[in-house]
Amino acid sequence: MNFADTELVLGVLTNNGFGVTKELTDANVILLNTCSIRENAEQRIYGRLENLKKIKKEKPETIIGIIGCMAERLRKSLIEEKKIVDVVVGPDEYRRLPEFIDTALGGEKGIGVKLSRTETYDDIQPYREEGLSAWISVMRGCDKFCTFCVVPFTRGRERSRSLSTIISEIENLSQRGFKEITLLGQNVNSYNDDHYDFADLLASSAKVDSNIRIRFTTSHPQDLSEKLLYTIAENSNICNYIHLPVQSGSNRILELMNRTYTIEHYLNLIDKARRIIPNVSFSTDIIAGFPTETIDDYLMTIDVMQKVRYDGAYMFKYSPREGTKAFNMIDDVSEETKGKRLNNIIELQQKISFEINQSQIGTEEVVLVEGFSKKSDQHFSGRTDSNKVVVFPKNDEIKLGDYVKVKINSATSGTLLGELKINGTLI
Ligand code: 5AD
Ligand code: SF4
Repeated sequence: MNFADTELVLGVLTNNGFGVTKELTDANVILLNTCSIRENAEQRIYGRLENLKKIKKEKPETIIGIIGCMAERLRKSLIEEKKIVDVVVGPDEYRRLPEFIDTALGGEKGIGVKLSRTETYDDIQPYREEGLSAWISVMRGCDKFCTFCVVPFTRGRERSRSLSTIISEIENLSQRGFKEITLLGQNVNSYNDDHYDFADLLASSAKVDSNIRIRFTTSHPQDLSEKLLYTIAENSNICNYIHLPVQSGSNRILELMNRTYTIEHYLNLIDKARRIIPNVSFSTDIIAGFPTETIDDYLMTIDVMQKVRYDGAYMFKYSPREGTKAFNMIDDVSEETKGKRLNNIIELQQKISFEINQSQIGTEEVVLVEGFSKKSDQHFSGRTDSNKVVVFPKNDEIKLGDYVKVKINSATSGTLLGELKINGTLI
């Protein structure tokens, strides 16, 4: 989400005469786009600010800004506490960034933290370098109010962009040779532009260019519709991959989290998706150690992981966030217990991912060639429809952006390793 927002901010700034540099020391303005979702995300930003002190000392005229959720959450206090910060701008005030930077250049602090009910930046062309994969924000904000989550407070109410501008953006990316587009929103299933829902948007996106893979994230288990599942099944370039955060396996905890579904509903949805979309794969988000989580609640989470067998998971320790409902609950699971439960959850997921990947050995997978392996520039790296990373030896007939068939020979929990099937298999 922040990656997409950064492109948006660069779009606003380059339209206003700014240029982009990759060299920190060349920059007149340095903006940190921040996340508040967990305490450690904010701590990393404080670390970055410490490092920037040196630059500010050597070149005091450098403008340093904090944008994004931390700006929205901490507002003026960020400037009061961190003297090197000149600009603080929240997610709905990016249009006015040039103005706030000007204020800072004039020696005052530039602060813009109003949230909007309507801002979608629909008319702003994000600044995108050439590449194969692009993110497109299709909506902003969130109305779900999960009790642990700061997002509704930092990104405001839910609002959708119009389908037509999103489709024009995809058409433009298609002309530029992009091959993968990820539609983004905190809860894409409630996309609604007054005429069209998310399934309509996905179907229209898929029709723009059959050579572009369409992905999307994040889905909410309460709002994912049957229509959406059929749309995925009917369009071969919509990836058979659903990120469906479960958060916990215990109904009691889900209720305390205000997730608005039961685990039975969740598992039914997974079954239904598997029936409608053969080969669909799932990933999830899990929180360990939510207030009052007992060993039995934790074991229910383990149970769901074993039942669903996710292809991947993002797993976190519960982190209390000021202003949320859960912040007022007693954070009674000790750090040690949270840590142990999280480690067990991670270990189990690695085992499951390893087993699923091992079962792919011998199969042939269609892979979009996206780059080179991190370990060797003699190997290409790409991903399957179900988002698995595949590494295979480089071949001169193949270039980045091609779809190829790869036979899988071995696998780890994170990567499939294979060989190119050359004979007429370029797709
Ligand atoms: N503590 C831990 N994890 C959190 N998430 C959101 N808020 C918190 C929090 N306070 C996780 C959820 C969500 C993902 C984006 O981040 O699992 O799905
Ligand atoms: Fe946060 Fe819940 Fe909204 Fe996701 S759905 S952004 S976890 S409030």
